[in-house]
Amino acid sequence: METIHSHDDILNMLDTLLREQSSFTWNTFYSDRSKAIPFFVNAPDENLVQYVHQRQLPAAGRVLELGCGPGRNAIYLAKQGYEVDAVDLSSEALQWAKDRAQQQQVDVNFICRNIFELDIEEAAYDIIYDSGCMHHIAPHRRIDYVRLVNRALKSGGMFAVTCFVENGVLGGAEISDWEVYRQRSLRGGLGFNSDKLKTIFKDLHAVEVRKMLDMEKSSDRFGNSGLWAALFQKKER
Ligand SMILES: C[S@@+](CC[C@H](N)C(=O)[O-])C[C@H]1O[C@@H](n2cnc3c(N)ncnc32)[C@H](O)[C@@H]1O
Repeated sequence: METIHSHDDILNMLDTLLREQSSFTWNTFYSDRSKAIPFFVNAPDENLVQYVHQRQLPAAGRVLELGCGPGRNAIYLAKQGYEVDAVDLSSEALQWAKDRAQQQQVDVNFICRNIFELDIEEAAYDIIYDSGCMHHIAPHRRIDYVRLVNRALKSGGMFAVTCFVENGVLGGAEISDWEVYRQRSLRGGLGFNSDKLKTIFKDLHAVEVRKMLDMEKSSDRFGNSGLWAALFQKKER
């Protein structure tokens, strides 16, 4: 059982070694909806609202959201008329997302799955959105993450990601990829800088990489300057 026969076996071994070191689970994290977690607000990201208002995204089409959590961005996009597939591995998060969607009478296709187990046809999506999932992806899975985005996007399609600033106000571990394995921990989520983001997504065209704007808790948009908001476009073929 602990013999390595394939590249997948190596990835699974590294997943397991990291998991063994931590008692954290996303289902436990979401079990109390009243916790004072910044992104538990029921409001879309301020950068996402900007992309829609400033027509930086196609006006219609199919969206894939990676790590949608309780669904605030998926629901916003569905309200704008997009056809949304929203994926998360936490059944607790998705139950909350479905409750929210039902309350707001919005149709979203919520999928409870690990993003690395999705069977996505090539060039299926006009837009891919990720708010806060990518920084929880271990470095050994990053190649597959980038491949998933590149493969699932249509030519000219848009990819947007928000993720921790290195040593930002929300965290964002400033450690090398190797250090993750020395410490056997992502330290609550990896931090990035704008060069690192552009290098990771070097096959895409960087349209805008900026810090998120801070938003009041009472605002109808979510924003925190401890996060990057990065928008990329898949090059036309
Ligand atoms: C910080 S939360 C953000 C949730 C949501 N995007 C939001 O901003 O409200 C990160 C989410 O990514 C999900 N996640 C992490 N790794 C994942 C994976 N490999 N596949 C699917 N979902 C994942 C977690 O379950 C969690 O809901």
